[in-house]
Amino acid sequence: MSRRVALVTGGGSGIGAATAALLARDGCAVAVTDLRADAARAVAAGLSGSGHRAYALDVAEESRVSAVFADAEREIGPVAVLVCCAGIIISPPPAPPDIADMEAANWDRTFAVNARGVFLCVREFMRARRRSPVADGRIVAISSAAAQLGGYRGSADYIASKAAVIALVKVAARQGAKHGITANSVAPGPIETPMYRAAVPVGAEGPMLGLVPLGRLGQPDEVAAAIAFLASREAGYITGSTIDVNGGYRMQ
Ligand SMILES: NC(=O)c1ccc[n+]([C@@H]2O[C@H](COP(=O)([O-])OP(=O)(O)OC[C@H]3O[C@@H](n4cnc5c(N)ncnc54)[C@H](O)[C@@H]3O)[C@@H](O)[C@H]2O)c1
Repeated sequence: MSRRVALVTGGGSGIGAATAALLARDGCAVAVTDLRADAARAVAAGLSGSGHRAYALDVAEESRVSAVFADAEREIGPVAVLVCCAGIIISPPPAPPDIADMEAANWDRTFAVNARGVFLCVREFMRARRRSPVADGRIVAISSAAAQLGGYRGSADYIASKAAVIALVKVAARQGAKHGITANSVAPGPIETPMYRAAVPVGAEGPMLGLVPLGRLGQPDEVAAAIAFLASREAGYITGSTIDVNGGYRMQ
């Protein structure tokens, strides 16, 4: 059986880098993409196995999304697994603005990356797989517990953009089904990554950890494990779902 090809956005750091590593270990050839080409290259170079490639990709740039998909399909093969990890927070906790004080430009920028960027990648994946189907296609997009909870300390643009991811994935699940594609989201709680540390310095986690029954931050590879499971052939009957990886921060 030929190797499955996975394309990971935001693969240069944190959860995306951990996901690229796990998918490579599971036997995928990985297209590691990131806004920061050097970070994508470094991650791709460190993956186990062979056949991986790095691409500079700003998911907010429509023409780049198309171009990188085309390059990856030509150079590695048809993408079977799309993982959307790229994301930004413009106004990190602990002091995001009230809605009344928010800049519309920040809302637009956050949505351009976190919501529209996921849409562009999902659209490109759907177009490619409509042209040439693959077995067991998978879409996994990263939302956030903040979207499920309304966020306690996050900004409205970030929280709403992550809610858009959950909704978009449900539509992709309905429409992808006829092409053998599942679509799911993963909603992490607080995870020890550069994005988290930009908002919460080391030593300042205390108040947040008081809300997490497991009493610690999650690690990127713990989120990657959920993503890799959803990306696997074994997860073929899970679609339209959101998997929580949050230490119990939010329970249904
Ligand atoms: N760390 C957490 O606590 C946490 C919690 C919930 C959700 N998330 C989500 O998980 C995802 C991964 O975040 P992380 O914590 O690993 O952060 P991170 O900052 O370590 O990684 C994010 C990566 O996305 C890349 N990126 C940013 N803008 C981009 C763009 N326009 N195009 C392509 N790449 C871009 C960055 O260069 C970076 O490599 C994000 O979507 C984030 O919102 C993180």
